[in-house]
Amino acid sequence: MAEAEGIFIRELELSDGRVLEIRQLSSGDVGCVVWDAAIVLSKYLERRERTEPGLLRGRTVLELGSGTGIVGIMAAALGAQVTVTDLEDLQDLMSANIDHNAHVISGSCQAKVLKWGEEVADSFLSPNYILMADCIYYEESLKPLLKTVKDLAGSDTCVLCCYEERTTGKNPEIEKKFFELLKADFEYEEVPIEKHDEEYRSEDIHILQIYGKK
Ligand SMILES: C[S@@+](CC[C@H](N)C(=O)[O-])C[C@H]1O[C@@H](n2cnc3c(N)ncnc32)[C@H](O)[C@@H]1O
Repeated sequence: MAEAEGIFIRELELSDGRVLEIRQLSSGDVGCVVWDAAIVLSKYLERRERTEPGLLRGRTVLELGSGTGIVGIMAAALGAQVTVTDLEDLQDLMSANIDHNAHVISGSCQAKVLKWGEEVADSFLSPNYILMADCIYYEESLKPLLKTVKDLAGSDTCVLCCYEERTTGKNPEIEKKFFELLKADFEYEEVPIEKHDEEYRSEDIHILQIYGKK
């Protein structure tokens, strides 16, 4: 993607001083900017890797609805083998961000198309982690999103879903529906806020750890 007006950078500093520089677009769909849930999840991953070294290093990670790709790029900076995914329209932005942050990536990171609800490629199946940030925001997507999670997850896959609790408009209804659907096929627990990054945390941003029902 060529440098152009309309690109603005979101920086995120790692605790070792490395800096992720994520390009965002001033126009385009919701995926063109970094959402707060993505920052909270990124910094949570970093804290987990710090307190439990080896949790991500060398592990396979598939991110859904990656947008700019920031969460997956953070996981790759922590040593994971990452695939960031989103709709076709976001591929250039994700790829540009992977390229521009190549110097901080110690694992690997690639961008692929994955539309929720559609058949998933065999190469995506059973990652160690599935990550999603701010993917609970419109009703029609809830069933396809959870179908994709179910199709992808193996028995040992850990799914981390970070979402911002929103109180306006249809958001509470959408969130309620998400939990109803989630409970049908999955077990989950909320990661206590004390375990989020000390600085990058907020009472209205939650992280769920989700597992398939045994
Ligand atoms: C609110 S944005 C969050 C982006 C990024 N995870 C973040 O938190 O900064 C939601 C993302 O989900 C993606 N998305 C929405 N519907 C989708 C679908 N049906 N299949 C795949 N991705 C989808 C959008 O393109 C967008 O990038």
